[in-house]
Amino acid sequence: ARKIIIDTDPGKDDAVAILLALASPELEVLALTAVAGNVPLSRTEANARQLLELGGRPDIPVYPGCMRPLVRNPVTAEHVHGETGLQGLVLPEPATPPRPGHAVDAMIDMLRQAAPGEITLCLLGPATNLAMALVKAPDIAARVAEVIWMAGARSEGGNVTPAAEYNVHADPDAAEVLLNSGIALTLLPLDLTHQVRLTRERLTRLRMIGTAAARAVAVMFSDADGTPQREREQEGIPLHDPCVIAWLLRPGLFSGRRINVQVETGSPLALGMTVADWFGVSGRAANATWLNQADAAGFFDLLLERLARLP
Ligand code: BDR
Ligand code: CA
Repeated sequence: ARKIIIDTDPGKDDAVAILLALASPELEVLALTAVAGNVPLSRTEANARQLLELGGRPDIPVYPGCMRPLVRNPVTAEHVHGETGLQGLVLPEPATPPRPGHAVDAMIDMLRQAAPGEITLCLLGPATNLAMALVKAPDIAARVAEVIWMAGARSEGGNVTPAAEYNVHADPDAAEVLLNSGIALTLLPLDLTHQVRLTRERLTRLRMIGTAAARAVAVMFSDADGTPQREREQEGIPLHDPCVIAWLLRPGLFSGRRINVQVETGSPLALGMTVADWFGVSGRAANATWLNQADAAGFFDLLLERLARLP
């Protein structure tokens, strides 16, 4: 199985991504590293532990990471994910404590102890933890197999400002460190994740699965009357972060191109905007694979099949 570390700020769609990974024998989840993002770190790390218990894997370690972005003030997203981060879902207090030690150190240690190219990093939130690890231990860049990150937006525009996607906007300086790290990087921007929507019909299929994990996902994405949330409900709710895991499981569901991607860290108006050189007009060398097409039907077949395998 492919060894992965999931760095995450759960977050409702993060929760789905974590459950999808736990349900997939092709992947060995070495650890969850939590970061401040959608909600503060105290919630994201507790949510991570609760989700592991829900998925029947309390043995997987959770390491709390950075409490704030590298340079700027925290930007949270309770309006999307609720005060707890897992809106609507009530899970038991986790029985397992977080592991001692900081996520940044845990990442460095795991990468140094593994063979070069053995560990893939899945980033589902702001890139703060990995950027800190790269500053603290630059040698790890050569040891990471690759980084798969839900981040950015080009033709789709931003979801937190008109220019910027949340995970980049929340810590643009961390994004800059990662984009310049030389690590093999695959980005799944809004251009792609907005094609992967939990529609009314898919929610109905989800509810028929009957496992606790599937029920939990249905609850997080339903209003009290059971309909999908949000004003764009005809189209459905985008499931951003699970696309990262689905890409590892079924790369054939996605397509894109190797391009150069830079991030805006100066302009207040465009802070965190990803400048993605899709047409290769900048002359800058490619530093990322930018995925912008998804087979949403294939994604949901995979997700529902996997959620049926969990407790
Ligand atoms: C990203 O922002 C977060 O709110 C989601 O969990 C996802 O990682 C989408 O822009
Ligand atoms: Ca997230």
